[in-house]
Amino acid sequence: MSTPHKPASATIARLDEMNQRALLGGGEARIKKQHEGGKLTARERVDLLLDPGSFIEIGRFVTHRCTDFGMEQQKVLGDGVITGHGTVDGRKVFVFAQDFTVFGGSLSGAYAQKICKLMELAMKVGAPVIGLNDSGGARIQEGVESLAGYADIFLRNTLASGVVPQISAIMGPCAGGAVYSPSITDFILMVEGTSYMFITGPEVIKAVTHEEVTKEDLGGATAHASKSGVCHLTSPDDRACIAQVRELISYMPSNNQEDPPFKATQDPPQREVPELDTMIPLESNRPYDVKDVVRAVVDDGHLFEVAEQYAANIVVGFAHIGGRSVGVVANQPAVLAGVLDIDASKKAARFVRFCDCFNIPLVTFVDVPGFLPGTDQEYGGIITHGAKLLFAFAEATVPKVTVILRKAYGGAYDVMASKHIRADVNLAFPTAEIAVMGPDGAVNIVRRKEIDSAADPIAARAEFVADYKEKFANPYKAAELGFIDEVIYPRTLRARLSSALEMLKNKRDVNPPKKHSNIPL
Ligand code: HXC
Repeated sequence: MSTPHKPASATIARLDEMNQRALLGGGEARIKKQHEGGKLTARERVDLLLDPGSFIEIGRFVTHRCTDFGMEQQKVLGDGVITGHGTVDGRKVFVFAQDFTVFGGSLSGAYAQKICKLMELAMKVGAPVIGLNDSGGARIQEGVESLAGYADIFLRNTLASGVVPQISAIMGPCAGGAVYSPSITDFILMVEGTSYMFITGPEVIKAVTHEEVTKEDLGGATAHASKSGVCHLTSPDDRACIAQVRELISYMPSNNQEDPPFKATQDPPQREVPELDTMIPLESNRPYDVKDVVRAVVDDGHLFEVAEQYAANIVVGFAHIGGRSVGVVANQPAVLAGVLDIDASKKAARFVRFCDCFNIPLVTFVDVPGFLPGTDQEYGGIITHGAKLLFAFAEATVPKVTVILRKAYGGAYDVMASKHIRADVNLAFPTAEIAVMGPDGAVNIVRRKEIDSAADPIAARAEFVADYKEKFANPYKAAELGFIDEVIYPRTLRARLSSALEMLKNKRDVNPPKKHSNIPL
């Protein structure tokens, strides 16, 4: 016999009613509009991000305090942001999701307090903060209270930087000063077609500079992934974006005191890779795709590339080697011959610093002809920007393993995690060429007089080039000096990297005590 239905007590009924109301956010009509715009709601996003049933919400009944513009009549439980914690692959994360259905996801004082409370808790317990952004910016009705709220968040983003990973997914508007919270965080992901970020929108730009530009061209995912470098990962829709967040987090520890999680693999750490013996072209100007080399040596051939569309002459991303999470930095000979320029230096420097913050070993693949010459680069400050990468590698105390595949010329040799800036294990392929510059350039300078006065200048030049190559365009001088620890058979690279990372797993190194360093910004 079924139990007769007992009416819930008045208190429970009230709680039920409030919960139902809160779950509806800005209401059915706005939820429908959100879906019609190709976007999921904030709650749907949180559900997708977190392991099923793991979400615990904080502050569901918070409301704003504004009494201007009739706002006291318009209160929505939660006030436009959902905050709480849950797990991703069983690991604790904190999340806030801006709810565009409530006042366009705009930020009030109360809303900012919810985010700040969450961030403080995340820092205390040492867990990542993931922000799902979809907001019309400062809540216009609240004026300076909203601006204050933003600043409160910026401060906490800054204090949390390097303590817990912070990830921002932009899944709708993010404009004005609101962009500065994501930009302080470690990674920005954007959804193609529905998200945009800019300091001032098309209307203001038109009024001030008479430039005409669409929202998409100005601040869409493609613009920021390929032109500005603001965005690190793009995806076609909300679901794909959230899947990327979940994968990204899997390479990181929960905080700066922990090591990244170990990922068991069936791929044998000592696996030989015979194709590596012939993968690097002998002609030093012939391009090849360095990602083929990286994929050949990492676990299961899987590289999670970051900032793929920006400064493609350098590749950065995450992978595992022997189950250990690593940050990969690799010159890309297939793009601009793998030269280091302003954009590549900035991109790689930020990535190196992220890895160093969070105890992720760095594996660096070198094939670099040097820094890009030209007035554009010099006037743009390549001196300062190139120094960023040098500084980042030099300052990093995580395990650093470097392999020179082919060219390592000039200052770029020093910069690319050389022995001299505290790399722990420096390997070279027999194809490595380590010199102040390439043979042609070098001979033009140091043998110019002899070439000019030779009976056959072309033959003389060719002879000097061959002589220089024999002397310098190889790894053996550097190995003789101990700057290279081992010239390896290319097929053994995966095994060597696995062994090096295993050897270095308990590495501890510290920088001199200081307030903080002064990286050339
Ligand atoms: C209050 C806002 C709002 C805001 C949108 N809404 N933005 N309410 N403050 N900033 C409300 C709208 O009134 C509307 O309410 C609902 O959200 C949805 O907005 P729509 O305009 O209908 O949506 P859509 O057409 O998709 O346009 C989205 C939008 C547009 C492009 C974001 O709303 C917009 O331009 N908003 C203003 C953006 C802005 O200028 N923000 C301030 C930027 S300066 P109803 O009730 O009709 O559904 C800033 C400074 C930060 O943020 C400084 C930090 C230091």
